[in-house]
Amino acid sequence: MQEIVINGGNPLEGRVTISGAKNASLAIICAALMSDKPLVLENVPYINDVKVLLEIIGTIGAKIHWQDYKVLYIEPPKEINVQAPYELVKKLRASNLLLGPMLAKFGQASVALPGGCNIGSRPMDLHFKGLKCLGADIKLEKGRIVGTAGRMVGCQVYLDFPSVGATENIMMAACLAEGQTIIENVAKEPEVVDLANFLNAMGAKVRGAGTDVIKIEGVNSLDQCQRYSIIPDRIEAGTYMVAAAATRGDVLIENVIPKHIEPVIAKLREANVDVEESEDTVRVTARKELKPVDIKTMPYPGFPTDMQSQMMVLLCTIPGTSVIIENIFENRFQVVDELKRLGARIKVEGRMAVIEGVNSLYGASVKATDLRAGAALVIAGLASKGETRVGNALYVYRGYQDLEYKLKSLGADIKCL
Ligand code: EPZ
Repeated sequence: MQEIVINGGNPLEGRVTISGAKNASLAIICAALMSDKPLVLENVPYINDVKVLLEIIGTIGAKIHWQDYKVLYIEPPKEINVQAPYELVKKLRASNLLLGPMLAKFGQASVALPGGCNIGSRPMDLHFKGLKCLGADIKLEKGRIVGTAGRMVGCQVYLDFPSVGATENIMMAACLAEGQTIIENVAKEPEVVDLANFLNAMGAKVRGAGTDVIKIEGVNSLDQCQRYSIIPDRIEAGTYMVAAAATRGDVLIENVIPKHIEPVIAKLREANVDVEESEDTVRVTARKELKPVDIKTMPYPGFPTDMQSQMMVLLCTIPGTSVIIENIFENRFQVVDELKRLGARIKVEGRMAVIEGVNSLYGASVKATDLRAGAALVIAGLASKGETRVGNALYVYRGYQDLEYKLKSLGADIKCL
């Protein structure tokens, strides 16, 4: 069993460089299948989720080559093997982002219906609503989503919820549809904007990404992009910012876009953490007495749900009462039972968690239940006195590149086994 062993209780100090954004990379790698020419992606994080997706598109017929583990050469297939192995596709929910590109470029797609995961049921009704509106035929067969489409035709679709994945799948499919597509109530996450910028680099005509409405004029081919660089990972950056605060340290985080982590910066400042911004760095210093704060997760630009578990750990170390309300996923408090093993005092009622901060947490053996819960447990171990062992560490390696190296460079006593 993969395990991370931490001897905590010391402040993190020093500087750390953030890798490319996992969630932008996954969407952009799927979009790259629509290119008529090979292309190069820069700043792609060398993490398990990316490696699994690359394996999947390899079985579909793409040729992939890593150059020094940050630069990725992708040669899209001329013909596809539509059925990627079920066991492989099932491993990665984000493989559902293959639907739009494959239907648009090849007229057929088959991906595993992503099972629910530990944070919620993860439906795909909004993806299907948009793809069907464009003219695709979508069926569920033996745990797979099987889609077929002729030349898709632009349409107007309203998303009942600003779903990131649904926005991305529909936007990608619309790029090669005939005529105009208007998508309303879309997700505004930076990763959606990065995907739109990549699509336009390939020759697409996408306007309005980052606002409530995206308009796409369909084109006949996408062959303009030779090279594209992925944005930094705002959630990895936020994770290191919260680790600095939870250990009462002083950390300079480099290769960030401060605007993308504004909600995290604002919350840390509200808790009396010092955060200094520059063009591409943030410095987090927690030397003063911190204050409890309340958090409500919302779609971007609200507080990100992917930072909720990490912030919970910080609030566990701040005496006083803090409240977290999780508005995005129905089951994203699984980390609570594990944090209680470290001495945290948390009460969960539905989508609300009430935290009574304590002066010290103490090391124990805990288990990650999902990617961000795992990251939160690593932060908790760093903030706890004594040894903490985080089991199911594979969850953490899905989304954090060079975790041991980066934390060791900040003075952490950590071993990734
Ligand atoms: C993306 O997931 C991210 N994953 C998630 O990051 C992130 O937590 C989430 O967006 C929200 O920001 C990737 O980008 C690969 P959603 P996604 O569709 O697209 C409901 C991480 O840790 N919904 O925005 O699956 C859904 O139930 C991961 O990096 C529908 O109702 O999220 C949820 O309540 C975890 N119908 C809400 O929308 C649909 O068709 C948000 O889901 C789709 C979604």
